[in-house]
Amino acid sequence: MIARTGWLNYCIWEHSETVKQLYERRAALQEEEMTCAAQAAEWLAGRVQPGDTLLDAGCGSGYFFHSLAKRNIPAAYFGIDAAPSLVEIGRRILPRFGLPEENLQVLRFDDLDGAVDHVVCMNVLSNLDNYHRPLERFLKMARKTVVLRESCKEQGEYHYVVDKYLDDGVPLKVHVNAYPLAEVMDFIRSCGFDVTCEMDRRTQDQPENVIDHPHYWKFLMAVRRA
Ligand SMILES: C[S@@+](CC[C@H](N)C(=O)[O-])C[C@H]1O[C@@H](n2cnc3c(N)ncnc32)[C@H](O)[C@@H]1O
Repeated sequence: MIARTGWLNYCIWEHSETVKQLYERRAALQEEEMTCAAQAAEWLAGRVQPGDTLLDAGCGSGYFFHSLAKRNIPAAYFGIDAAPSLVEIGRRILPRFGLPEENLQVLRFDDLDGAVDHVVCMNVLSNLDNYHRPLERFLKMARKTVVLRESCKEQGEYHYVVDKYLDDGVPLKVHVNAYPLAEVMDFIRSCGFDVTCEMDRRTQDQPENVIDHPHYWKFLMAVRRA
């Protein structure tokens, strides 16, 4: 028989109690701020104007909201994520901190459309099959800036590996891709943006093992050309 359960059954982010608990603590401000969240928020601080909208694409439970609030960055925060249980965590906890629950939505990039002033996407595209379609969507949607933190290096590398850190007995695989940096930057430019690459503050240009596989974190800061 054909079933419609494929996304949820094969989505690694729906199969880790450890990740859910971590994302719950982050939403409740019981964890230290992620270094990358601080770096992204500091870059945005000088560029966000009152009334601007910001989309956190692949937001988990939406904890980047705290990084904006703590710096009084005057953006209206919206988060979308494909994992319903992670969005549920944010919708339950973040209203306590002033975020309307409807600002967090379960949505996959394929279905995403509309316009915002800023898009932030961190630690997401490296785990997808490729970057072109989602990144193109973010660049189309963003009136002002796009901030990316992804694994990039001189030569691309594409792996599809078992995630050994999921709940017991869940044998799922995930993409661990490092995208070719110059190609990604050219792609961003071809969509009408100037882009710079910033060193990732946490990893200082050194590979970092995540689920036992090296990630080459880079920040790409894109500003729409006038
Ligand atoms: C590693 S987590 C990163 C969460 C957060 N951005 C951070 O930096 O902590 C990747 C997130 O991307 C989401 N995601 C993966 N594929 C997606 C898709 N096609 N559409 C929307 N979200 C997606 C996952 O559900 C997961 O919450």
